[in-house]
Amino acid sequence: MNYRILISVILGISSFAVMADNEMMIKQSRQAVKALATELKAELMAAMQKAGPIEAIKVCNTRAPQISKKISELKGLNVRRTSLKTRNSANKADDWEHGVLQQFEQRKRNGEAAQTLEYSQITEVNGKRAFRFMKAIPTGEICLTCHGENVAPEIKAKIKQLYPEDKATGFRVGDIRGAFTVVKPL
Ligand code: HEC
Repeated sequence: MNYRILISVILGISSFAVMADNEMMIKQSRQAVKALATELKAELMAAMQKAGPIEAIKVCNTRAPQISKKISELKGLNVRRTSLKTRNSANKADDWEHGVLQQFEQRKRNGEAAQTLEYSQITEVNGKRAFRFMKAIPTGEICLTCHGENVAPEIKAKIKQLYPEDKATGFRVGDIRGAFTVVKPL
């Protein structure tokens, strides 16, 4: 075989492998995000119905980090939530996440549906190569109880007590509340 053909065949196969690898990591990230979203929503709804929003705040406060940790370990990656306006400052976006959240806002203004906004890239995290993935979280009706423009005073007080630095109010239905964010070290 002519060596030029051989080289292009090898390059072709390896770029195909990279693409397949990338697809696999996107798929894996989507699954982790879905698992986290489903579990968080189920616990939130159950707490809201059973005990009301004040108790549900406690569920978000204690269970959200626990469930994120559990699913991260189960799926072999790191999945959490972030936002341009965080409630828990531990969820603050890093530079890359901040850029992607701004990109999501721009894409939404350009007419894309918040439900479908996703972005992934191979980049570096703390000097190490990593695959990163984000998926936007739209604001639904139920979210307004604790993230809306008119949060009830007793709910507001409880939130302020737990999160003195809270920035996560003033949202409307359809706004991007934040995003799920995945890191997979390579
Ligand atoms: C009962 C009150 C309550 C409701 C209802 C609620 N949240 Fe939250 N939310 C919280 C609390 C408390 C936190 C902080 C959790 C933590 O400490 O990680 C939070 C954190 C978040 C975060 C993580 C980023 C940040 O701001 O720290 C996102 C994203 C989020 N909520 C989205 C939603 C969405 C979407 C809905 C509707 C489906 C919703 N929330 C409904 C109380 C609530």
